[in-house]
Amino acid sequence: MLHSSMASLPVIFVSMFIFSLPILPSSSSAMITSLAKGSSLSIQDFLVSTPNPTFTAGFFSIGENAYCFSIWFTQPNDDGNHTVVWMANRDQPVNGKGSRFSLQKSGNLVLTDAGKFQVWTSNTKTESDSSSSSVDLQLQEDGNLVLRDSKNQNLWQSFDSPTDTLLPGQIFTGNSPLISKRSLTNYSSGFYKLYFDTDNILRQMYQGPEITSIFWPDPWLNSKDAGRSTDNNSKTAVLDFLGHFHSSDEFKFNVVDYGPGIQRRFTIDFDGSLRVYSLVNTSRSWKVSWQAKLLPCNNHGICGLNSLCTYDHETGRKCSCAPGYRRVNQSDWSYGCEPEFQLPCDDFNASGWLELKQTEYYGYDVGFFPNYTFEQCKELCLKYCDCKGFQFKYDVGNGYYDCFPKTLLFNGYTSIGFPDPMYLRLPKSNLSSFSPNLSQRVSDLKCSAQIITLDRQYGKKHHPGWVKTFLWCTLAVGAIEIICLLSYLYTTRIRSRARVQGYLQVGTGFRKFSYAELKKATKNFSEIIGRGGSGDVYKGVLPDNRVAAVKCLDQANYHTEAVFLTEVSTIGRLNHMNLIELWGYCAEGKHRLLVYEHMEHGSLAKNLQSDKLDWKKRYDIALGTAKGLAYLHEECLEWVLHCDVKPENILLDSNYHPKVADFGLSKLLNRGGGDQISSFSRIRGTRGYMAPEWVFNLPITSKVDVYSYGIVVLEMVTGKNPVGSYDKEENGSRNVMMEPKRLVQWVKENMHEEGDNNTNNDDEVDGKMYGVLKVLDPRIKEGDEEVDVEKMENLIRVAIQCAEEDRDGRPTMRQVVDLLMHQNSDQ
Ligand SMILES: *[C@@H]1O[C@H](CO)[C@@H](O)[C@H](O)[C@H]1NC(C)=O
Ligand SMILES: *[C@@H]1O[C@H](CO)[C@@H](O)[C@H](O)[C@H]1NC(C)=O
Ligand SMILES: *[C@@H]1O[C@H](CO)[C@@H](O)[C@H](O)[C@H]1NC(C)=O
Ligand SMILES: *[C@@H]1O[C@H](CO)[C@@H](O)[C@H](O)[C@H]1NC(C)=O
Ligand SMILES: *[C@@H]1O[C@H](CO)[C@@H](O)[C@H](O)[C@H]1NC(C)=O
Ligand SMILES: *[C@@H]1O[C@H](CO)[C@@H](O)[C@H](O)[C@H]1NC(C)=O
Ligand SMILES: *[C@@H]1O[C@H](CO)[C@@H](O)[C@H](O)[C@H]1NC(C)=O
Ligand SMILES: *[C@@H]1O[C@H](CO)[C@@H](O)[C@H](O)[C@H]1NC(C)=O
Ligand SMILES: *[C@@H]1O[C@H](CO)[C@@H](O)[C@H](O)[C@H]1NC(C)=O
Ligand SMILES: *[C@@H]1O[C@H](CO)[C@@H](O)[C@H](O)[C@H]1NC(C)=O
Ligand SMILES: *[C@@H]1O[C@H](CO)[C@@H](O)[C@H](O)[C@H]1NC(C)=O
Ligand SMILES: *[C@@H]1O[C@H](CO)[C@@H](O)[C@H](O)[C@H]1NC(C)=O
Repeated sequence: MLHSSMASLPVIFVSMFIFSLPILPSSSSAMITSLAKGSSLSIQDFLVSTPNPTFTAGFFSIGENAYCFSIWFTQPNDDGNHTVVWMANRDQPVNGKGSRFSLQKSGNLVLTDAGKFQVWTSNTKTESDSSSSSVDLQLQEDGNLVLRDSKNQNLWQSFDSPTDTLLPGQIFTGNSPLISKRSLTNYSSGFYKLYFDTDNILRQMYQGPEITSIFWPDPWLNSKDAGRSTDNNSKTAVLDFLGHFHSSDEFKFNVVDYGPGIQRRFTIDFDGSLRVYSLVNTSRSWKVSWQAKLLPCNNHGICGLNSLCTYDHETGRKCSCAPGYRRVNQSDWSYGCEPEFQLPCDDFNASGWLELKQTEYYGYDVGFFPNYTFEQCKELCLKYCDCKGFQFKYDVGNGYYDCFPKTLLFNGYTSIGFPDPMYLRLPKSNLSSFSPNLSQRVSDLKCSAQIITLDRQYGKKHHPGWVKTFLWCTLAVGAIEIICLLSYLYTTRIRSRARVQGYLQVGTGFRKFSYAELKKATKNFSEIIGRGGSGDVYKGVLPDNRVAAVKCLDQANYHTEAVFLTEVSTIGRLNHMNLIELWGYCAEGKHRLLVYEHMEHGSLAKNLQSDKLDWKKRYDIALGTAKGLAYLHEECLEWVLHCDVKPENILLDSNYHPKVADFGLSKLLNRGGGDQISSFSRIRGTRGYMAPEWVFNLPITSKVDVYSYGIVVLEMVTGKNPVGSYDKEENGSRNVMMEPKRLVQWVKENMHEEGDNNTNNDDEVDGKMYGVLKVLDPRIKEGDEEVDVEKMENLIRVAIQCAEEDRDGRPTMRQVVDLLMHQNSDQ
């Protein structure tokens, strides 16, 4: 890795060429490639990397007359800013005038502020015989600033003391943590830290003004369950040039654009998210190619104390104070909020309780109190003077409620993913003046563009662009935290496995199964109930007599158990009546299995071939499916975007209520990395239901699901199958195949055929009726109950809109739900 180019030259020369860098306010900057002993850089001077000038080192302006000696990418980003990868004095900026970065005769590197006062030093020196020994400082092409002696040995290198960024090839060690910036524009040390713990585990910690908590890997998992190993005490981690990250505790991942020739950086961002960014050559912008946690609200401390974090489509998160609390510092959320009330400790009668729906505060419990009534929980909280409220949570596994009194309101998160409320303790007298005014969700979904789009340039080399796009859709980001829903552990206290297992079950009933257990449950995998691209599904009966569908994933063995666990538990926390419920998983050796609830009536595809579905059931299935998808889209879990909405993936329970299945699955199969690309063709969206974006290589957004949904509904209504998969054996089957485009066109034409331009009302109704009845699946008409033409017409119109070629013309899933519900309430 070390270049031995100019370092060994006996005479060090400083090559100077006049060069003007666009952003820095100097008219005549000097650009050199090596700094010799006894010389120094002032703020006009820059050291550029050799042989390619990819990086520049010098004084970086961080404010008015405030500079930090830094290394940055020479080329500016598209917004004109430079991306800094290292800083010597981030917390102690120097003046512009008179500050110098010098390589002293002794071999020491020193940064001095204007008044000669030393701000930073490398603490190096050359051997004493040294008048002849040469030392020089060079910036390597990989971004490493290296001080080398005449024997070509490194005396010092910037790679050993990273700030918030690791470059490819840079070895991260236990000696020097990564610490985030303070904010997007403030480069000084922030609150998030990535470091090797004393037990050799790579962890992430929030170190705020008042509170410290470790939040990655998930604190309630012991290291083994988190897939980490404590055995290797070398404490090193590195992102290689291909985009593979490996840590000595066995944490590893590949970025989504894995492969050579892409400039990347691994950064701990000011919001606490660990991300790998890839540089898009054409636009000079950075795209996220891996991220440890998708939702910044899951990062501890993000909004400070006594606050609430909600997902925001534009910025990723939005902070607000809990009702009854006000901001401490108007410009900085990390100071959180403070109470604007006083509650006497001994006056029990003064406390009132304010319900915050779908809200969780993670950690800082007085304890865990199972099987408590609401009254008991209130009383318990009152017993503790510092109890700020309690989480009251239904325990699915046991069928009772659990009580979690909180001593601190920290890591507050409001999300539709949380089924249970939090109760805040506030003065009873003023209770009505505190309103749980939580931000309204934006109905027009716009997920952060950086996460869902990737420049197509990357894709073209090996495979068509849609493959990459699909990758982005399904694999957009890496492991996601099993969020608080699953646990209320006191952040650092509890490590016991039994306890953990119990906590995981609290809330979702989600758990880990052993392979033997599942083998037994499925009677040696004897009763197969489905085959899919991702694996076969078997019926099984769990020890507690619940009937389950056990899916054995093929090709899932690329995932380590840890990655599998994090992803599976994220899917497990998605909780909606129209999503199939994940009860647990098994990851043993090469086996990767998922345990789902069993759906009595099987798939919609199967049922469409039968005569079981009258118009009402079909309508309800359409509505339920829309609700399920809307929920998935709501939090912008881009990788969960279904991408494969089709009748086979809509399952029906004993009452024919629909549940969407298979979401997020393609990610579990980890078909993104390296060699597995070729198998991608099998798991893309299914022909017939695939939105035109795939074909035309346009950005993939949640609107692809909307398109597929539209086609599925049209199929449900008309009985015409856009794939032609189930009209083979039965000639005279009414499931006539029809290309999706033609299907949409055909329905449109029939709906418009008569009455459209008719001013006469009666005729209009007749016309509609005629159109609707003409396209309806004949089997619907055969049903006993008379078809509600108005409703069906509305459904068809919505479906046509969903199947618009132009994605901007399609409604969001939430709007679809509203359109259908609105029709309901009209009746
Ligand atoms: C980047 O540049 C824009 C304007 O060009 C500026 O508003 C923004 O603060 C800059 N960001 C950083 C991190 O310096
Ligand atoms: C950056 O944040 C630090 C710590 O809060 C603060 O002291 C400093 O003034 C900030 N710098 C700027 C330029 O805002
Ligand atoms: C420890 O981790 C390092 C870096 O990943 C690796 O090179 C080394 O072989 C590991 N040692 C053992 C004993 O596994
Ligand atoms: C991006 O640019 C770098 C340097 O100019 C080059 O080496 C690399 O091949 C380019 N990558 C792509 C994907 O074009
Ligand atoms: C708020 O925080 C900023 C940045 O840390 C600091 O500069 C400012 O003085 C603080 N304001 C108050 C009122 O404490
Ligand atoms: C309660 O509200 C009243 C008026 O709304 C206010 O004057 C009083 O200070 C509040 N009390 C507390 C404890 O906040
Ligand atoms: C609270 O109110 C109840 C009746 O409403 C009363 O019996 C009790 O003494 C009161 N407690 C205190 C501490 O005021
Ligand atoms: C929960 O508590 C109630 C009342 O204390 C008790 O009757 C019930 O058996 C408990 N349930 C369980 C599952 O322990
Ligand atoms: C709730 O918040 C919205 C905007 O954030 C505001 O317009 C509205 O007045 C608030 N309602 C209450 C009751 O505070
Ligand atoms: C399952 O298969 C094993 C051998 O593979 C056999 O010993 C066992 O009896 C079988 N169990 C059942 C329930 O069929
Ligand atoms: C199916 O129907 C078509 C036309 O209706 C006919 O030509 C064909 O022979 C039939 N096939 C079978 C297997 O009955
Ligand atoms: C019906 O109205 C559409 C526009 O709404 C128009 O394009 C079409 O020509 C009209 N057809 C007749 C028969 O008037």
